[in-house]
Amino acid sequence: MRLASILVAICAAEAFAGTTPEDGAVIAKSNDSTVSELMIQIAGHEGDPAEKVFRNIRIPWLKNVPAGTFLTIMKDGYAAALGVRCEYCHVEGDFSKDDKRPKRAAREMAAMHHGINQQLAKMQELKPRPGGRFINCSTCHRGAVSPLSDE
Ligand code: HEC
Ligand code: HEC
Repeated sequence: MRLASILVAICAAEAFAGTTPEDGAVIAKSNDSTVSELMIQIAGHEGDPAEKVFRNIRIPWLKNVPAGTFLTIMKDGYAAALGVRCEYCHVEGDFSKDDKRPKRAAREMAAMHHGINQQLAKMQELKPRPGGRFINCSTCHRGAVSPLSDE
């Protein structure tokens, strides 16, 4: 009896904390519309380097990516890999701000991902793969904020 009521209390607390995963389709729709709004704002400059169009691009290999492609990377690469909305990493209304810890963590992750690809390219004992070998955010995250199994 006692244990059961404790369990009920824990479950209720979790539900209250909002741990139910949000519907992926709802998140995807929100991200699509955020990107559409930004595409309108940068209209005419989609092909210009991201660092010229946006204000705070620090990841070296993203600086020269066309601004339109950069937004696709944000949506299909970053947000979809983690299964989150843009706002998980970004302050609403100003994408250049670094206030949110996950945005800063994503920069560290980008460096790790880049390093792994450089190491993969140097490996001698893998079987040949004509297109080369690249991992990306989804290789680990697969739609979840944490790829670690203990959470
Ligand atoms: C997992 C975290 C994460 C998610 C989710 C994410 N971003 Fe980003 N975003 C970043 C990081 C990190 C940068 C900075 C890149 C750099 O320093 O080169 C950035 C930069 C940007 C910038 C440039 C802002 C500026 O002026 O410097 C825009 C615009 C942007 N993101 C849009 C989006 C959109 C739209 C979405 C959702 C579809 C999104 N981001 C989802 C991490 C994220
Ligand atoms: C080699 C595996 C791996 C790759 C590749 C990877 N991540 Fe991660 N990521 C992790 C692990 C492990 C954690 C820590 C999870 C934890 O502590 O629960 C993490 C955590 C994060 C977090 C922090 C989430 C939070 O709220 O604390 C963000 C943001 C993130 N990753 C974004 C990215 C992005 C963006 C990419 C691609 C550029 C990426 N990750 C690539 C393994 C990876």
